[in-house]
Amino acid sequence: MIHEKLDSFRDGFLWGSASAAYQVEGAWNKDGKGESIWDIYTKKTGTTYKDTNGDIAVDHYNRYKEDVALMAEMGLKAYRFSIAWTRIYPNGRGDVNEEGLKFYDNLIDELIKNDIKPIITLYHWDLPQYLQDLYGGWESREIIDDFNNYCTTLFKIFGKKVKYWVSLNEQNVFLTLGYLTALHPPGVKDHKRMLQANHIANLANAKVIESFRNYVPNGMIGPSFAFGPVYAYSCNPKDILAAEDAEDLNCNWWLDVYCKGTYPSFALKYYEKLGIAPIIEDGDLELLEKAKPDFIGINYYQTSTVAMNPLDGVTFSEGMNNTGKKGTTKESGIPGIYKNVKNKFLETTNWDWNIDPTGLRVGLRRLTSRYGLPILITENGLGEFDKLENNDIVDDYYRINYLNQHIKACKESITDGVELLGYCTWSFTDLLSWLNGYQKRYGFVYVDRDENNEKDLRRIKKKSFYWYKNIIESNGENL
Ligand code: BG6
Repeated sequence: MIHEKLDSFRDGFLWGSASAAYQVEGAWNKDGKGESIWDIYTKKTGTTYKDTNGDIAVDHYNRYKEDVALMAEMGLKAYRFSIAWTRIYPNGRGDVNEEGLKFYDNLIDELIKNDIKPIITLYHWDLPQYLQDLYGGWESREIIDDFNNYCTTLFKIFGKKVKYWVSLNEQNVFLTLGYLTALHPPGVKDHKRMLQANHIANLANAKVIESFRNYVPNGMIGPSFAFGPVYAYSCNPKDILAAEDAEDLNCNWWLDVYCKGTYPSFALKYYEKLGIAPIIEDGDLELLEKAKPDFIGINYYQTSTVAMNPLDGVTFSEGMNNTGKKGTTKESGIPGIYKNVKNKFLETTNWDWNIDPTGLRVGLRRLTSRYGLPILITENGLGEFDKLENNDIVDDYYRINYLNQHIKACKESITDGVELLGYCTWSFTDLLSWLNGYQKRYGFVYVDRDENNEKDLRRIKKKSFYWYKNIIESNGENL
């Protein structure tokens, strides 16, 4: 629908920005921190773009005060960051590392001092390597108690100061890439193992939400889901069916469990027929049923468009564009179900990601209709090549344009009736992109480093910095 006048963003809307520990902190082995699976994986030749890693990243661990001062200058209302499990429990279990806690305590205090609300992500992919070696990480039910113990430690210590919490970041991504396409650690290609690890992650997520209710009764918690709403390529009923299947397998498979405590029935039957459905034990469904989140966190970057895929059609391909060479993504799909196709109505980034602000509105509305929960946009942003020009100018007009359109879509969604708690861009400073090195930049603040050289890691405000400052000041009226 087209609105003649748009509603305003609510008072206290969380104008935020987000990051993750491994992508910004550096200091990978400092002050008692243990090794995570990413510390090890990135050091295997050929796993990441130009073999980049987060050993130093953008040195946020040592420069957090400078970074928070920039956030304060911008007027940021919320900062979403993740806690590295290995700083708190170097082996994932056992004795607490006080120095790790101290770092996050200082960061939280610095944020609060500057009127910025911390949003803590409990898990953004950096699993302790010790637990991976000990029992196979997410493949063992032992992780449920270890994760709960780690999270409970944080709830007890930070629960009085921090209201907003994100449980698992993009469970759909870290398990799909970790166990199906083998692009993330532990580098496995096994659909059955993936679905079983995913079930265990669902239980871990639910258990932690249950604990949260005891320790942070006035807080709010939810998972962050990588949400890519699906479109049908055409009005051919076969394409419509393909889109329904893709939405079930790629979105509802996770979201229904989080929000309703059940797996979507068509997808579950499909996996059962293949003999790869997760093993559900007594008590599992009861736990999932009672641990509903307070909000749905979504990381929105793009929609996908699918068409019917014959039984002998394309499969999942290895052709992911991690170089920024436009047009290098290969076609992929599931034979007999769907294949991803190009949407001629959408422009793409240099990494072949569709640019689709209306898709965000479509997605927010679908979530609201299906689950009726408030939504927090925990990530949205544009990864592009940025150019540092003379006199420290970075004119990222394309990012301003992208964010402006997406925030407008948020405003339209609110006018439609979506309950939106906040909007976090990805990201505040530039940071390490897991598989794409440092050249794929997302920040409002340019960090002077590249794949080959850490240089001086100087912070430089891009044009988008001043633009977002203005958006926040006007509570989204100056779009
Ligand atoms: C999300 C992750 O998948 O997207 C972030 O939560 C990630 O950690 C972001 O960096 C952008 O993805 P990429 O691959 O461009 O870095």
